Amino acid sequence: HAADAQRTDLMTITRFVLNEQSKYSESRGDFTILLSHIVLGCKFVCSAVNKAGLAKLIGLAGETNVQGEEQKKLDVLSNEVFIKALVSSGRTCILVSEEDEEPTYVEPSRRGRYSVVFDPLDGSSNIDCGVSIGTIFGIYQLNDSHEPNLEDVLQPGKNMVAAGYCLYGSSCTLVLSTGTGVNGFTLDPSLGEFILTHPDLKIPKKGKIYSVNEGNAKNWDGPTAKYVEKCKFPTDGSSPKSLRYVGSMVADVHRTLLYGGIFLYPGDKKSPNGKLRVLYEVFPMAFLIEEAGGQAFTGKIRALDLVPKKIHERSPIFLGSYDDVEEIKALYAAAE
Ligand code: AHG
Ligand code: MN
Ligand code: MN
Ligand code: MN
Repeated sequence: HAADAQRTDLMTITRFVLNEQSKYSESRGDFTILLSHIVLGCKFVCSAVNKAGLAKLIGLAGETNVQGEEQKKLDVLSNEVFIKALVSSGRTCILVSEEDEEPTYVEPSRRGRYSVVFDPLDGSSNIDCGVSIGTIFGIYQLNDSHEPNLEDVLQPGKNMVAAGYCLYGSSCTLVLSTGTGVNGFTLDPSLGEFILTHPDLKIPKKGKIYSVNEGNAKNWDGPTAKYVEKCKFPTDGSSPKSLRYVGSMVADVHRTLLYGGIFLYPGDKKSPNGKLRVLYEVFPMAFLIEEAGGQAFTGKIRALDLVPKKIHERSPIFLGSYDDVEEIKALYAAAE
């Protein structure tokens, strides 16, 4: 019976991606190997995050533990683990991390065809109070074997071949797209494997939740202010939306993906480009949301059409359910 089969026929993330990649047989092995190194990084961060409270018993981040050893901050530690895992995969050539000012160019002997942009620990302000945090990543593929350079990563998000995030929440969930829809996998701690739990995720066409840091409202521009006002005081007879804001992009986007609604990090008078980084926050999330049937908009254009000029560039972002993003797009169009 199908129900029985589900319990014994475990679809691990590796098996899933191998099946999916069998369409492009030549890349199959390389991509799967790359992904397994990303997955290893996620498992490490998951276990480190779960021990974060416990670690306080033996020494705070930045302080020394009982052995007199320096404790690394969790975001720095996570970054090191990801960089080392990605370099050792032998499948990467350029790595861009939120934690490193400069990109990492992989030495020729360990070089591969993929570039990975990532935020090893997103939502770091939430670490010390046990609120959900995450890892975000995007993957570009080099077409030929030229000497890697910055242009290889300063590409629009639509050129990514895959993107994903891992949410360290009440459970550890990895959401991935290789450009053919979105799938979610949950870590089974007893197996140490990510198992397919959310096949073919689609974002609801319209949602009942908006997610934004309203503390910045005094500096908002007209369309953002008008949109949020409409969420609270709808004029079309619909019910007001609920406000949910964790302050960890991964958690806020994951909820938006599953429940529908809109996530906003607008530009404002103080920060015209908002806060979130194009390469490793905006692009991967925009890629996933579009693959799930939603939209991602910068206030001017489709987010995935942006061409970043710098690796740590920022952009305003409005993403979520198709109909909700359509409304904010109309407000920005009307303001032009
Ligand atoms: P990071 O922890 O990687 O520096 O990113 C934090 C980001 C993101 O997770 C979140 O959406 C946003 O900061 C929240 O910013 P505000 O505190 O300004 O709302
Ligand atoms: Mn971040
Ligand atoms: Mn971060
Ligand atoms: Mn940071």
